[in-house]
Amino acid sequence: MTAQDPAAAGHVQKGLEGVVVSETQLSDVDGARCQLIYRGYEIGELVGKAAYEEVSFLLLNGHLPSRTELADWTEQLVTRRALSPDIIQLMEQLPFGNPMAYLRSVISIMGLADSCAEDLSPQALRERALDLIAKTPTLITLFDRLRHKRSMLGPRPDLGHAANFLFMLHGEEPDPEFAKALDAYFVLLAEHGFNASTFAARTAVATQSDFYSGITAALGTLKGPLHGAANTKAMEMLMEIGSPDQVEPYVQKTLSDHKRFMGFGHRVYKGEDPRAKHLKHFSHQMGAARGELQWFEISERLQDAVWQAKKLYINVDFYSASLLYYLRIPVDLFTPMFACARTAGWAAHILEQLGDNRLIRPLALYVGPRDLKFAPLDQRSA
Ligand code: COA
Repeated sequence: MTAQDPAAAGHVQKGLEGVVVSETQLSDVDGARCQLIYRGYEIGELVGKAAYEEVSFLLLNGHLPSRTELADWTEQLVTRRALSPDIIQLMEQLPFGNPMAYLRSVISIMGLADSCAEDLSPQALRERALDLIAKTPTLITLFDRLRHKRSMLGPRPDLGHAANFLFMLHGEEPDPEFAKALDAYFVLLAEHGFNASTFAARTAVATQSDFYSGITAALGTLKGPLHGAANTKAMEMLMEIGSPDQVEPYVQKTLSDHKRFMGFGHRVYKGEDPRAKHLKHFSHQMGAARGELQWFEISERLQDAVWQAKKLYINVDFYSASLLYYLRIPVDLFTPMFACARTAGWAAHILEQLGDNRLIRPLALYVGPRDLKFAPLDQRSA
């Protein structure tokens, strides 16, 4: 250890808060300005204009696709949507427990079944990236259909990424406005700097492990309620509140119980999450289209009440909850929806990490005892 080692100096940055561990060209999460930039484009520049297919291309290739590039990219995604019979058979046999644990397990087994999984060449990684971006919607929707004993639906090649997702889930072609709202959700959640799941993916592949290990590490990390599961928890919170006039009593009770408001607060943004206003817009639009504005109204009132009580800003998960609910996504699939969107970001980070790799290995400050002497078993106290 040298004198410059933070651990030697006794400096611990708990939760790596504020620590810059790498450069990235993928996105800028600017906490002070409350801006999110994907490869140079502020998020508001893309949402509602670029489809998820274009944004996933942008993340993985560094520029928005030309017409020919987009046609080729879309074609590659469409042809990869279907699952192999072996994976379908396996999915039928797995327990239908926590959807994130299920997704993590299936993708892990897809890695086991891929004889080229250990190939870390850029071309091989790119192939796997396309494969998982294309297949994750099929995995999630098939999980839902299998657990409800509904017949399996093959992907529809004529539908875009978001519309095909809704088709495979519900069995009918969605209204274009609903598909557009889901597409916007996918775009908004596609990438977000060195968040916990992305960092987990980069840490896994930095050991020169394989692409699937990176994605499964990310999935396991996203599963937690302080990260990706906050959207499910936020919807459960709205349901517990039940009606706009119950917002204030709920806020008071949550404060007195010292509990957290799900979908509020952020480690990086010092103000409102830049994705939140777009999600709010789509939630309102979908609530109006469904004639069920109460979830939006509860959300709006809660946003104000929590601001008054605690000066906390909403984050990405807050209006994602009502939006996904209006799209008739089952509440326990909200976190897999986040994963579905973020697969593009994770994949781009895996490529970036392996393009200029260095093992990720931070230090810890040891605060336990030293110089203890070994005692044989019969001389130790209980
Ligand atoms: N509800 C109530 N209080 C909150 C809060 C929330 N959602 N988020 C932060 N706070 C409070 C904490 O209680 C703490 O107050 P204190 O200093 O009086 O103890 C203070 O704000 C700082 O919180 P801290 O947990 O240290 O911030 P963090 O940077 O570690 O946490 C989150 C960031 C996202 C984990 C946190 O805001 C949170 O738990 N949010 C709810 C879960 C969520 O929405 N996650 C999705 C993130 S995109």
